[in-house]
Amino acid sequence: MGHHKNRVIFITGASTGIGRATAIRLATEGATLFLVDIAKDELESTVQKCRSFGSETTSAECDVANESQVTRAISSTVAQYDRIDAVINVAGIQLWSHSHEHSLADFEKTLSVNLTGTFMVCREAIPHLLKNSGSIVNVSSTTALAGIPYSVAYAASKAGVLALTKSLAVEYGEKGLQVNCVNPGGIKTEMSKMPSIENPDLNLLLRQSPLGKFSEPESVAGLISYLVSEEAQHINGESIRIDGGALA
Ligand SMILES: NC(=O)c1ccc[n+]([C@@H]2O[C@H](COP(=O)([O-])OP(=O)(O)OC[C@H]3O[C@@H](n4cnc5c(N)ncnc54)[C@H](O)[C@@H]3O)[C@@H](O)[C@H]2O)c1
Repeated sequence: MGHHKNRVIFITGASTGIGRATAIRLATEGATLFLVDIAKDELESTVQKCRSFGSETTSAECDVANESQVTRAISSTVAQYDRIDAVINVAGIQLWSHSHEHSLADFEKTLSVNLTGTFMVCREAIPHLLKNSGSIVNVSSTTALAGIPYSVAYAASKAGVLALTKSLAVEYGEKGLQVNCVNPGGIKTEMSKMPSIENPDLNLLLRQSPLGKFSEPESVAGLISYLVSEEAQHINGESIRIDGGALA
């Protein structure tokens, strides 16, 4: 499959879950990849898997909340491949807590990885993406659209990612850059395991999807692959739920 042949795609959070599945999907479709994450061993495993499909894949350890590391990762991508065609911001954390006990440190950490990290990657990549009418896909969440208990910082950060996505889409659309986000819910990864907090009310947490089941990260990878493809070139500033209809 050559869907993304010769296209250079930068992905954060590529070590596990949705980011890993997305990297592998794009590798099978011919993309050249630059993958970043903080989980070094898992990142190397994703790199090996992508290369096994013939993809030219490079990686760097990068904490998206660290400005100089983000700047370095984007310049390394351009130094190596001379271009960036698409950026996919998947890296994220979810720190569970009863809201009245949520520490400020955890609140700020969540915003700094999920929201500020997404902003910094976009900011550094946009000048390069503009040269190729590129695209950005940010991973938001259904928690940007409907309340979730015990995750107030996470929900606020993901609503911020949605707002950031639309603002960038409006600002850069006329220059040929598309910016969209996906809002997953109920995807089987480490992050969707039950929270380790005292006495959670599970009834508040389980917003049943009509499909009645969780989905694999590959389903989100397929949607992201479409959004960064040429077929999706008229989609801009959109947010797409992929949650089995939980918020329908
Ligand atoms: N699983 C779900 O149901 C679900 C639902 C909605 C949104 N999401 C979002 O999908 C994205 C991927 O999550 P996942 O479900 O695959 O979970 P995951 O925990 O498997 O993946 C998160 C990845 O981000 C990386 N990461 C964490 N902090 C980082 C940092 N500071 N810098 C760089 N990388 C960092 C982790 O090492 C990991 O590889 C997240 O943004 C998450 O909020 C997931």
